[in-house]
Amino acid sequence: MNKSLEHQIDQAAQLLKSGDVVGIPTETVYGLAAVIHSDSGIKKIFSTKERPFFDPLIVHVASLEQARFCTTDWNSLVEVLAQNFWPGPLTMVLPKSELISDLITSGLPSVGLRWPRHEIAEKIIQKTGAPLAAPSANKFGRTSPTKASHVREEFKDQVFVVEGQDSEIGIESTVLSIKHDIVSQKDQYRLSVLRKGAVLASQVDRVLAKHSFDYRWSETIDKKESPGHMKHHYMPSIPFVICRNPARKLSELSEILNSKLKELPDEIEGVKIIKPAKQIARIEFLKLSADPAQAAREIYSQLRAASSRNPDALCFIQMPSHSGEMWESIFDRLYKAASLIVD
Ligand code: TXA
Ligand code: MG
Repeated sequence: MNKSLEHQIDQAAQLLKSGDVVGIPTETVYGLAAVIHSDSGIKKIFSTKERPFFDPLIVHVASLEQARFCTTDWNSLVEVLAQNFWPGPLTMVLPKSELISDLITSGLPSVGLRWPRHEIAEKIIQKTGAPLAAPSANKFGRTSPTKASHVREEFKDQVFVVEGQDSEIGIESTVLSIKHDIVSQKDQYRLSVLRKGAVLASQVDRVLAKHSFDYRWSETIDKKESPGHMKHHYMPSIPFVICRNPARKLSELSEILNSKLKELPDEIEGVKIIKPAKQIARIEFLKLSADPAQAAREIYSQLRAASSRNPDALCFIQMPSHSGEMWESIFDRLYKAASLIVD
């Protein structure tokens, strides 16, 4: 690690200890961090992001010991998942301990815990000496940052940003809720994926199959349990269109967009939509790699770069080859970013 980076890590730890917020790299996306004990730091996360207080923050640790202090139920299934997926892009939602304030969890009795697989993030947590609450470092509802420059563009000189590489995974962590009951002295677990990410449900099954846990998946997501879930998210101001018909000719697509974009509202969930004033002249196409791991890495920076070139519309063509669990995680983001879906 070079001297400048070490210096940045020291500076970040100092700022965090004094109750400030800092932009930090992680393997998923960049986070806007504050130390969990500092109510003023936590409040500053919400005000800097313009994030409503109903949306809970994820707590980042750099050891199992730190994680155990944050929950009242570090059970054996959680231990197995931590051993297999941490450090990494898995957030486990568990009952919170008194170390975690209601401000962090938006009043929920649970907390999302994650140990990021990123040397700089781990060093910052270690130097600060406490877990860090950190949402993605973007204004609320907007595209998540995968480069240090994205965070700087978003918050200008309001926030000190530690310079890391581009995020290796590129989409936010899988959020897994784990409910644990003891029935007739036997442990029972109920799992649900609150947000899809790079850790797949099938990988969780494969790991748990090696043990004899009594667990089941529940599909239904209670709105109250997952308050950060909105229909729209990551939305650029340029209209973003998903076309589900790969056979569409460009001329047909332009015609459809000319009639349909006019009908869009001026604002969708707080994001102003810039509608083309005249006939559509320029459509930019997102070109994601065929490999979903690579595509995940590209999605947010392509959305940002393409919208900064100010086309009349952005478009993504959905293909039959875009199938499988990792593509589902990617489509979760694409559909939330879309202002229009056409066939
Ligand atoms: O990869 C990531 O998870 C990134 C990096 C920085 O670690 N963080 C991130 O945070 O994406 P954020 O705030 O943008 O998304 C966190 C989401 C919330 O919107 C909420 O849906 C869910 O995680 N969440 C957090 N705590 C929860 C809880 N106690 N119960 C249910 N959902 C929770
Ligand atoms: Mg976010």
